[in-house]
Amino acid sequence: MTITVPVTSASKERVAQPKRVLMCRPTHFTVSYRINPWMFPENPTDQRLAEAQWQTLYDAYRDLGIDVELIDPLPGLPDMVYAANGGFVLDGIAYGARFRYPERQPEGPAYLDHLETLGFTPRPAASLNEGEGDFLLVGDVILAASGFRSDEEAHAELAKVFGREVVSLRLINPSFYHLDTALAVLDDETIAYFPEAFDEASRDELERRFPDAIRATEEDAAVLGLNLFSDGRHVVMAEQAGTLRQEIDARGFQTVGVNLSELLLGGGGVKCCTLELRS
Ligand code: ARG
Repeated sequence: MTITVPVTSASKERVAQPKRVLMCRPTHFTVSYRINPWMFPENPTDQRLAEAQWQTLYDAYRDLGIDVELIDPLPGLPDMVYAANGGFVLDGIAYGARFRYPERQPEGPAYLDHLETLGFTPRPAASLNEGEGDFLLVGDVILAASGFRSDEEAHAELAKVFGREVVSLRLINPSFYHLDTALAVLDDETIAYFPEAFDEASRDELERRFPDAIRATEEDAAVLGLNLFSDGRHVVMAEQAGTLRQEIDARGFQTVGVNLSELLLGGGGVKCCTLELRS
């Protein structure tokens, strides 16, 4: 499929990079425990709606030519749909996740085994970390968060495993408990983020490194608008995050809106459902 984007003088021609991702169908999705402020086990969830919404994300990726791998969902692991937490994959190496809460711990080995069958070299982690939920690659640098789920020791481990610069950031707002809920990578040098989710030192660091970053409003952050996936040209994101969408479009990207309202009940959006596989 060919998509043509009108290029105005204000926008720069963006180039889509080939992408490969791993996803997990929400076959067993529900909210049966509470490990983040979004989750209310007393409220019902609709598994069929979750699956239909997830399918729109899957189809959007396929339409954009993104290569999508699937991992089999396991019964009793309702959060397994949030594939981003399954590890961090770069340079053909899969650094395994070690989840903070017992409810999700079995996901770690399940994802690492699957990543090995996909041909990645498995590196089990010694430190608590929730994969690409807290680690995001921007160009050659890995932005890594601590504060709620991943420990700072994991940042040092990451630097060793991948031989890259790792920038440690600290999250301070429990509603934005994973880095990918508060910060989005649009291309090798462009990010968008919600400054209030970070402590002061992290905010200073982000300002210094990314002076041109898009700053999201609380409204857009609160519908997990930053929890998006970009191929460098197309940006798949929450359709509810209107202002952020406009700003991203104004930078010459082409946004594709999806509605994952049911998966938001577990505290996750587009990016949470997506683990990038980098050879
Ligand atoms: N219920 C899941 C948890 O709290 C949601 C994970 C969202 N994933 C993400 N990459 N932010 O662990």
